[in-house]
Amino acid sequence: MSKKEDSFKKIVSHAKQYGFIFPSSEIYDGLNAVYDYGHNGVELKNNIREYWWKSMVHLNQNIVGLDASILMHPTTWKASGHVDAFNDPLIDNKDSKKRYRADVLVEDYVYKIEEKIEKEILKAQKKFGEDFDKEKFVSTSPKIAEYNNKTKKILTRLNTSLEKDNLDDVKDLIESLEISCPESGSKNWSKVKQFNLMFTTKFGASSDNAMELYLRPETAQGIFVNFLNIQKSGRMKLPFGIAQTGKAFRNEIVARQFVFRMKEFEQMEMQFFVKPGSQKKWYSYWKENRLKWHLSLGLDKKYYRFHDHQKLAHYAEEACDIEFKFPFGFKELEGIHSRTNFDLSNHEKFSGKKLKYFDNLTNVSYVPYVVETSIGLDRMFLALFSSSLKEEILPDGSSRTFLKLPPSLAPIKIAILPLIKKDGLPEIAKKIFNDLRFEFNVAYDEKDAIGKRYRRQDALGTPFCVTIDHQTLEDGTLTIRYRDDMKQKRIKIDSINSTIAKSSNILNLLKNL
Ligand code: GAP
Repeated sequence: MSKKEDSFKKIVSHAKQYGFIFPSSEIYDGLNAVYDYGHNGVELKNNIREYWWKSMVHLNQNIVGLDASILMHPTTWKASGHVDAFNDPLIDNKDSKKRYRADVLVEDYVYKIEEKIEKEILKAQKKFGEDFDKEKFVSTSPKIAEYNNKTKKILTRLNTSLEKDNLDDVKDLIESLEISCPESGSKNWSKVKQFNLMFTTKFGASSDNAMELYLRPETAQGIFVNFLNIQKSGRMKLPFGIAQTGKAFRNEIVARQFVFRMKEFEQMEMQFFVKPGSQKKWYSYWKENRLKWHLSLGLDKKYYRFHDHQKLAHYAEEACDIEFKFPFGFKELEGIHSRTNFDLSNHEKFSGKKLKYFDNLTNVSYVPYVVETSIGLDRMFLALFSSSLKEEILPDGSSRTFLKLPPSLAPIKIAILPLIKKDGLPEIAKKIFNDLRFEFNVAYDEKDAIGKRYRRQDALGTPFCVTIDHQTLEDGTLTIRYRDDMKQKRIKIDSINSTIAKSSNILNLLKNL
């Protein structure tokens, strides 16, 4: 097993062991790419959602919220283009009988070349030490130029073939690169076929006349069909946005990607309606704004990069991803798309209802253009979780695992720990717990030795632990211990509240945006 696979395995098992994420219906051997969130997972997920919602809706006077249904009239998906074009190119390995996304097989091949580039850079860095000029090396190394040319050629061919729906060429590409089945090593491939990703279900009391519906594959369409309801009821003026969080469903063919690619997942989307002609400006605005949101969480810049799309979705005029360095490489975390007036115009066409905005400054009606920001909540969870899980060797040679989550998003903000279970210490600890629980998610733990309890909270990502000891009885002080550097200091009981609030209230993140 490679080092990367090993570290990803550790992330998945930590998530299960500490009550963040479980495989769905595990007692029946689970369902591929479907997961449940445990008690700590729900808290972290809720905090991420809350931070997104507040920064999007509460901080922007011209963005309002919506909670549309998962089930929508089936014509919605004809109008949106999903019935005809929401497909993935799939390929089967005839020997292992495993099914793969043909484009992902090629992208994984390219990723391996990118890893080789990284290795070349590291090698040179070691060789030249402090004198190393990375930019110069990357632009002059013949080996890196060769690798870059190769990846560019492969991706251009892949994108051109997909755009032209030339699936035979996608198969030729896989064969010419000698890509083998990751499970069996076999290169015995079937033809590449398009596969629609939408789930269907039946709507109606009897099977004879039940209507076939789709489970929504994106939350965005709930926003489009409600565009006029919201614009009129909220007296919204362009430009304005509608934000929504909620479940989406895609019949993804995947293996071993944990919550990165799921069949049932949650999106946080915002459609920003603008005057035609101004979409370029707003596209750039939201690109920068969303990157700023990510960086506000305090993770290193090196985790993020933009990827401008060459191959555009059926609705897009311009599109990019904010990619994140997941344990398995840089992958899409969030999409920013300039969707033209494609969706609203098509809904007008298919429903026969007007979806125009009346501009009372110019007395002209028109269909607005749309810039969308769309992020998967589960992917954001994985981005934070995977980059925060740390292991360090302590001076005494033992190791500790801790989850260095941004304190504002941590599931538990503080753990209250009486040093021992007697001498009146639990009583004081419980009083502190009872006082704090109205404002923060607080844990109380009196089992096991104090060191073991600290480790448990480290593994959950709790930024602070306070220990109530015999000195607390004498002078009303206690020990506060910080998760990241394990330093401890004595503070007064009545200053706990302000200490936690200062560094772990979502307000502080919002104020820095
Ligand atoms: N409304 C536009 C849209 O849905 P998308 O790029 O298909 O665009 C947006 O999806 C985001 O949703 C992605 O950037 C990703 O974070 C998340 N996402 C998409 N498919 C997902 C899946 N199968 N599992 C988890 N998250 C997913």
